Amino acid sequence: MRGSVSAKPVARQQQRAHAKMSAAAPRASQARAMGVGAASLGSRVQVASRVASSPSSVATKAVATEKPSVTLNASGKGKKVLVIGGDGYCGWATALHLSAQGYEVAIMDNLVRRLWDQQLGYDSLTPIASIQKRVAKWKELTGREIGLYIGDICDFEFLTEAWKQFMPEAVVHFGEQRSAPYSMLDRERAVFTQVNNVSGTINVLYAIKEFSPDCHMVKLGTMGEYGTPNIDIEEGYLDVEHNGRKDTLPYPKQGNSFYHLSKIHDSTNMIFAAKTWKLRITDLNQGVVYGVKTEETALDETLINRLDYDSVFGTALNRFVIQAAVDHPITVYGKGGQTRGFLDIRDTVRCIRLAIDNPADVGAMKVMNQFTELFSVNELAGLVKKVGAPLGLDVKITSVPNPRIEAEEHYYNAKNSKLLDLGLEPHYLGDALVDSLLKVAMEYKDRCDHELILPANNWGGSGVSRHFVGQKVASA
Ligand SMILES: NC(=O)c1ccc[n+]([C@@H]2O[C@H](COP(=O)([O-])OP(=O)(O)OC[C@H]3O[C@@H](n4cnc5c(N)ncnc54)[C@H](O)[C@@H]3O)[C@@H](O)[C@H]2O)c1
Repeated sequence: MRGSVSAKPVARQQQRAHAKMSAAAPRASQARAMGVGAASLGSRVQVASRVASSPSSVATKAVATEKPSVTLNASGKGKKVLVIGGDGYCGWATALHLSAQGYEVAIMDNLVRRLWDQQLGYDSLTPIASIQKRVAKWKELTGREIGLYIGDICDFEFLTEAWKQFMPEAVVHFGEQRSAPYSMLDRERAVFTQVNNVSGTINVLYAIKEFSPDCHMVKLGTMGEYGTPNIDIEEGYLDVEHNGRKDTLPYPKQGNSFYHLSKIHDSTNMIFAAKTWKLRITDLNQGVVYGVKTEETALDETLINRLDYDSVFGTALNRFVIQAAVDHPITVYGKGGQTRGFLDIRDTVRCIRLAIDNPADVGAMKVMNQFTELFSVNELAGLVKKVGAPLGLDVKITSVPNPRIEAEEHYYNAKNSKLLDLGLEPHYLGDALVDSLLKVAMEYKDRCDHELILPANNWGGSGVSRHFVGQKVASA
C-alpha cells in the first residue's frame, strides 16, 4: 500500500518541473468586444467581512480579521460555458471561478440535491442561500452575470430549449447523483442513481451532437471508478500485451457501488459517442474533494458553499473536520487503511478551467486523473487530531463497522501527471488548510445534528423495501 508519504514528493517534484499558468488579462477594448464588463477588468473586488455571531472566540477572531477579495479578469475571453449541476458543491465554486475569469457562464440544475436533503432530514453545515440569491449577490458584488436554467437534464425537451438559448461552447457536467451510500440505500435509489446519471449524460451527448457538435464536454467522473487494483492506476487507458499482441485499452474499472458503476457506464458511453460522432470529450476522474472556501465563495456569506457532514453525502476529510469541531469522535470505517486520491476544492475549479482551455481531440475521449495527493483514512484522522489540539479540541478517533464492502488495507498507486503537465499548481493539504476548515466548522457547529453522523445504511442491508430516515441500520 502506498500512502501520502511516498506519493507527495513525487507530485511536488513533478509540479516544480511544470511551467506556471499564465492568466494575462487582455486590454479593456478587447474585453468589451468579448462582452466582459470593462469596469471589472483585472480588478480586485473587496468586501468588508461580517462579524461572526458564533460564540466561538477562535472563529470570531478569524472571521473578523479576514478581508475577502477576488480577482476579476477576462482570460476566459467570454467563452460560453454551461455548468450542469452548478448549484452543487463543486459546480457552484466552479461557476463563480469561471465567471471571475471572464467566461460567460450559465448554470443548469434541477435543485434535486436540496430536495434529497429535505427528504432525508439533512442539511449543509453552512447555511446555503437559494441559487437565485447566490447569482444575484455575485452580480451585485462583481457586476458579472451568471445565467440560470432550472430543470432536469433527463428531460430532453427542457435541455433542448435551454441549450438552444445559451448555445454553449463548452459544457461542464457535474449534474449527477454523486453519493455512493445514497445509491446503496435501497433498490429505488439504486435505480434512480443509474437512470439519472446515465440517461442525463446520454441526453447531453445528444444535445452536443444535434445542436453544437464543436462544443467540448468536460465530464466529472471519479477515481472510485478504478477501485483498488493491485497494479498502478493509469490515466484512463492501459497498454496491454496479450498472447503476443499489443493494444491500448480503457483501464479496467471496478466500481464499488451502484453510484460508481453509473459513472463507469457514463465513461463507456462517452468513449462510444466521441468515436462515433467525432465529439470532443474529456472525462475527469476526480478524487475526494475537501475544503469549503474558494477565493470567490469567500467573498460574502450569501455565496458560501455547502459543507456536508452526514454519513450519506459527507466525504472523508470534510466529515472528520466537522466531527472534531462538534466534539464527536472521528469515525474511521473499519481498519482505516483505505487509501484514496484527494484534492482541495480550490484545485477542482482550476482543474476544470485547465480542462476547458485544453480541449480533447475530436473522436478520442481524453481522460485525466484529477487529484493532487494520496492519503489513507487513518492519516487524515491523525492530521485532524493534531491540528485540532492547538485550537483546544480534544479530538478522539474511533473505528466503526465499515458500511461498505471494500478492502481496508491494499496497494494503491494512481498516476496524476496530466493536469500537472497542463500547469496545475496544487494546494497541498497541510495544517493551515485543516486549521481554517476547523474554524469554519466551529463557527457553524450549532447547526450540526449529531444523529446524522453515524452510517445510515450499509451495502449488505440495501434491499427492495424503501429506506426511511431514522430506521435502524440493517445488518450486512
Ligand atoms: N464531491 C466530491 O468529493 C466528488 C469526488 C469525485 C467526483 N465528484 C463528481 O463531481 C460531480 C459534482 O459533485 P458534487 O459533490 O458537487 O455533487 P452535488 O450533489 O453537490 O452537486 C450535483 C448537482 O447536480 C444537480 N443534479 C443532479 N441530477 C441532476 C439532473 N438530472 N439535472 C440537473 N441537475 C442535476 C444537483 O441538484 C446538484 O446541485 C459529480 O458528478 C460527482 O460524481 C465529486
